[in-house]
Amino acid sequence: MTQDTLLVHASHPEEGTRWWRDAVIYQVYVRSFADSDGDGVGDLPGVRSRLPYLAGLGVDALWLTPFYVSPMADFGYDVADYRDVDPLFGTLADARGLIADAHAHGLRIIVDVVPNHTSDRHAWFRAAVAAPAGSPERARYIFRDGRGPDGAEPPNDWESVFGGPAWTRLPDGQWYLHLFAPEQPDLDWENPEVRAEFADILTFWLDLGVDGFRVDVAHGMAKAPGLPDVGHPNQVEMLGTAVLPYFDQDAVHDIHREWRRLLDSYGGERIAVAEAWAPTPQRLAHYTRPDELHQAFNFHYLTAPWDAAPLREVIEESIRTAAEVGAPATWVLSNHDVKRHVTRYGGGETGLRRARAAALLTLALPGSSYVYQGEELGLPEVLDLPEEFQQDPQRLRGEGAGRDGCRVPLPWEGEEPPFGFGAGPASWLPIPTGWRDLTVAAQSADPGSMLALYREALRLRREHPALGDGGLRWESAPPGTLVFVRESGGRRLGCAVNTGGGTVRLPARGTPLLASGPVRLEGGHLDLPPDTALWWDVEEG
Ligand code: GLC
Repeated sequence: MTQDTLLVHASHPEEGTRWWRDAVIYQVYVRSFADSDGDGVGDLPGVRSRLPYLAGLGVDALWLTPFYVSPMADFGYDVADYRDVDPLFGTLADARGLIADAHAHGLRIIVDVVPNHTSDRHAWFRAAVAAPAGSPERARYIFRDGRGPDGAEPPNDWESVFGGPAWTRLPDGQWYLHLFAPEQPDLDWENPEVRAEFADILTFWLDLGVDGFRVDVAHGMAKAPGLPDVGHPNQVEMLGTAVLPYFDQDAVHDIHREWRRLLDSYGGERIAVAEAWAPTPQRLAHYTRPDELHQAFNFHYLTAPWDAAPLREVIEESIRTAAEVGAPATWVLSNHDVKRHVTRYGGGETGLRRARAAALLTLALPGSSYVYQGEELGLPEVLDLPEEFQQDPQRLRGEGAGRDGCRVPLPWEGEEPPFGFGAGPASWLPIPTGWRDLTVAAQSADPGSMLALYREALRLRREHPALGDGGLRWESAPPGTLVFVRESGGRRLGCAVNTGGGTVRLPARGTPLLASGPVRLEGGHLDLPPDTALWWDVEEG
């Protein structure tokens, strides 16, 4: 075998455990995880009751999506009070209890912070609407006069991520900016009062014991001076690929530096991860420079097709750009905003086979990995939700198919919906009856299940010295195939993935550790069927 690339992370072992460099972080979409009070909506006590499941799965930390007081125009990403829990999800005492219990289970807790915008019901926005143009109340948000006769045209051509203009007009004639729904007015981060308020909000949750933050729209808080036109329609199509005057502006990094200083002033290695859509992996890496956030979601990996060549390209570029700033690469296949990857990869048996192989690929890569709730069960996107249940503002406002289908509650046990999700008769989105074979209970009893694969992969990831943080060495491989070796502590782990259409034969020697499907490793050869991955203990020879 030839070795053609060696990629190694910068490492600073003197600074604590650096747990986040190779943590597996499980995303809990609170609304759809577990419902303790039978109202059909998941809640914090529900999460608390399922901590043994999460600890047993073998993840290191939980990221909880927003559970703060909210009118739920965007399912909690429209926050009305950042320092309290919405009654739908529980109480502040429940949050405290969950954090304490999670820590007792060896799980860290990361909470979502939503700094780009508030809810339109937030006390600040209510005050802004009640106050006159030019008032200090309006200066916390981005209010402007319109263009054209009588100011009847929006102040510029910016478009909302959810479709339509990014401006809404108040009865007094002024317009306010909302990059998302009109119920989510953008804050003006040039206003020191806004900065001080968020420093205080972070402090509140850090004092409560959280281990870090997932920063929502971390690329959005700074807008280009003068709010210039984009000069282009269909801006949604440019998201994450082009520089826009409202996303990924350099000034946003000052805010992240300020937050990093705050995090570092606490003990216990508290972290922040950026949800940032940047045009290139290079620009994404800016968010994780040593004095900024610890990690950034790698949407370039998530959006890569199931094909070895583009996958290898994005993997190499992600590792290289992260290493340049001394940050760990991160890997993510699904979240609450995108179509689940079983479905993206082709759905049905094919999608499942690929998702199994993708799990082994992802968890073998150097750095930190995210697991979206339900991916460990191989849940597909629900594509046929009845119309009356589809509530995602993205769809309602005309942008895309909507994100409801990846937010369907988890099936835990039993034969009928809602499959132990809650004590009530129904869940806020109906769970397909066909998921009876996908419940946690059903899969726990089946050693060939997706859940069994994740449990074993996560167990090995903890145990095997070559997995987690470190370097990666590519081996030569036929087209359609990825082969690399991880090495540490005198052990070598090989990972081979076949994304092509036929079985490939590779030179390989050693002991199989975990396979996503049927493989054969003997006599110095590995026979790897399509859409299959293998981890093995490498013997050179
Ligand atoms: C992020 C969230 C998404 C939300 C949006 C607006 O992208 O992940 O769910 O709609 O921000 O807050």
